[in-house]
Amino acid sequence: MRIAFFDTKPYDKASFDKYGKEQGIEFKYYETKLNEDTVELASGYDGVCVFVNDTVNAAVIDRLCDLNVKLVALRCAGFNNVDMKHAFGRIHVVRVPAYSPYAVAEHTMALLLTSIRRIHKAYIRTRDFNFSLAGMTGFDLHGKIVGIIGTGKIGRVFLDICRGFGMKVLAYDKFPVKELDNGDTVKYVSLDELFVNSDIISLHCPLTEDTYHLIDNEAIEKCKKGVVILNTSRGALIDAEALLAGIKSRKVGAACLDVYEEESEFFFEDFSGHILEDDTLARLISMPNVIVTSHQAFLTEEALSNIAQTTVNNIYDALVNGQCANELCYRCGNTEDCKDGKCF
Ligand code: NAI
Repeated sequence: MRIAFFDTKPYDKASFDKYGKEQGIEFKYYETKLNEDTVELASGYDGVCVFVNDTVNAAVIDRLCDLNVKLVALRCAGFNNVDMKHAFGRIHVVRVPAYSPYAVAEHTMALLLTSIRRIHKAYIRTRDFNFSLAGMTGFDLHGKIVGIIGTGKIGRVFLDICRGFGMKVLAYDKFPVKELDNGDTVKYVSLDELFVNSDIISLHCPLTEDTYHLIDNEAIEKCKKGVVILNTSRGALIDAEALLAGIKSRKVGAACLDVYEEESEFFFEDFSGHILEDDTLARLISMPNVIVTSHQAFLTEEALSNIAQTTVNNIYDALVNGQCANELCYRCGNTEDCKDGKCF
C-alpha cells in the first residue's frame, strides 16, 4: 500500500516509517499541505494521510475520487477540516480518536500555571539577571472555579488535574456524563451559569456548527471580570476579535491559546524574520497576559507513537480488511465513529 503523507514535519517520519514497515505500508512524505492546489500529488496512491490544517473539502474529495484514492487517514482526532457529508459514500475517512488525552490536558495546565504564575516573564527576566518580583503576583488555583466545556476524554483528564489542585469544577457538555457530577466539587450547569461563575474557562469540545464562536462578545460579557480563558481544542471556538476586545477592556484577565482560528496560515511554520500579516494574532501575541503555543498540546513522545501506530492500523484495516473501527461516518452522526465500521 502506498500513502501520500501531507504536511510532514521532521518528528512524523520516525514513528510512521517504523509502524508502516511492519504493515507493508510505504509513505511518500510531502511537506506541503493537502488542498485544491496540491491534490494532484496524491495521484497513484491508495490513500492520503493528513493533519489538522490540511483541507479536505468537497473539491479535494472529488479530485481524490477521480484519482482513485480510496482513503483519507487523519492522523488526529478532530475532523472539522473534512467535509464529512460530501465524503460519505465516496471515500473512507478514518481518524485517531484518542492518542494521549494526557498530553493535551497536561499542556492545558502547563499554560494555565505559566500564565497565572508569570513563569514566561520570570524565565526571560532571570536570564537577564533581573531578579525583581515587580508585576509577578499570581493567584492560587486552590479554591478557584474552573468551567470545563466538553467533558470527553481530554476534558475529563483536565477535570481530574484541576481537582488535584483543589479547584471546583463547573462542567458543560451537550451529552453530560452523569456519574461525573457529585453535586459538590463537580457540577454540570448550563453554559450561561458556567460563563457567569467560572474564574477559569477551558474548552475541550469539538468544533462544530453548534460550537463555532462559542466564546464571542456576548459570552465574554457574561463572564467574571478577570476570567482566564484556555483553548487547546480548536481555534474557531473563540471569536478572536471578541477575545482581543475583552483583553483590551480588561474583562478577560488572561488567555492561553494552543489553537487559533486562522492558524493554518501560520502554525507549525517559522515566520521569524517576517512581518506577520494577521493583525489580530500579532496583537494577541503582543499582550503580556496572552500565551500562544502553536498547536503543540499533542506533541509528546507517547502521543506521536500512538498516532502513528493507530493510523497505520487504520489504513491496514480500511484498505485490506475493508472495515475499520475508527472510520468516521456521516450516517452514524458525523461526530461519531461508525458504530459497526460497515456503513460505508
Ligand atoms: P471527545 O470526543 O472525547 O470529547 C468531546 C466532548 O465534547 C464530548 O464529551 C462531547 O459530548 C462534547 N461536545 C460535543 N458537542 C458539544 C457542544 N456543542 N457543546 C459542548 N460539548 C460538546 O474528544 P477529545 O479527545 O476530548 O478532544 C476534544 C477536542 O480537543 C477535539 O475535538 C480536538 O478539537 C481537540 N484536540 C486538540 C489537540 C491539540 O493538540 N491542541 C489534540 C487533540 C484534540
